[in-house]
Amino acid sequence: MSEHFKQLAAERAAEDVKSGMRLGIGTGSTAEHFVRALAVKVSEGLQVVGVPTSERTHALCVELGVPMTTLDNEPELDLTVDGADELDAHLSLIKGGGGALLREKIVAAASKEMVVIADSSKAVSRLGAFPLPIEVVPFGLEATRRSVLSVLSKLELPDVLHLREKDGQAFVTDGGHVILDAHLEDIPDARELAMELTAIPGVVDHGLFIDLATRAYVAGEDGVAEILP
Ligand code: 5RP
Repeated sequence: MSEHFKQLAAERAAEDVKSGMRLGIGTGSTAEHFVRALAVKVSEGLQVVGVPTSERTHALCVELGVPMTTLDNEPELDLTVDGADELDAHLSLIKGGGGALLREKIVAAASKEMVVIADSSKAVSRLGAFPLPIEVVPFGLEATRRSVLSVLSKLELPDVLHLREKDGQAFVTDGGHVILDAHLEDIPDARELAMELTAIPGVVDHGLFIDLATRAYVAGEDGVAEILP
């Protein structure tokens, strides 16, 4: 059922796309529904260019014939559409479950608007049940891990950090980094945590997206709700 809701939210966002737009295109299963809806509109004559936020999304755009460009060619985008792992009522987000958080944040920050698409299970009153991805450079991993732990301890958050793995190896992002997933359960002050994590040398970025999303379409049993921050 959640797959159907993801599709509904994605299709609603595709209605906002107009010819001439420069798009940021997110990563994940919900974003893939958006790419499919967008590809139908492109085949009907819609003229857009998209900047994909991952190699995975890039491959899907190639397969479906969605025209692409790079952020270097189009450093200002009109609209980014992306999924989320969690969103709260202010549209603060946890992203990065799919490991694409760095490019996703760069692309969202380069966009005039960021629309989040999600099924209703992603909407929460407070962020934190979903493990927070923290992208770090492999060099000095243990030192960086200790710095992250000391921030968590200072903010009285649980010190549970897991190096993300895939097929028994450390998961490596499109940028060549690794991910520490922080199992925090609850984040009372996401803005403070975001600032503290960003200040750690070795942390490339993290999955807290604050003041980036401008609108969300959240689909559930009652249809698609539009949420503004
Ligand atoms: C990838 C992301 C995704 O947007 C997030 O994980 C949601 O994925 P899905 O739509 O598959 O539930 O941040 O880095």
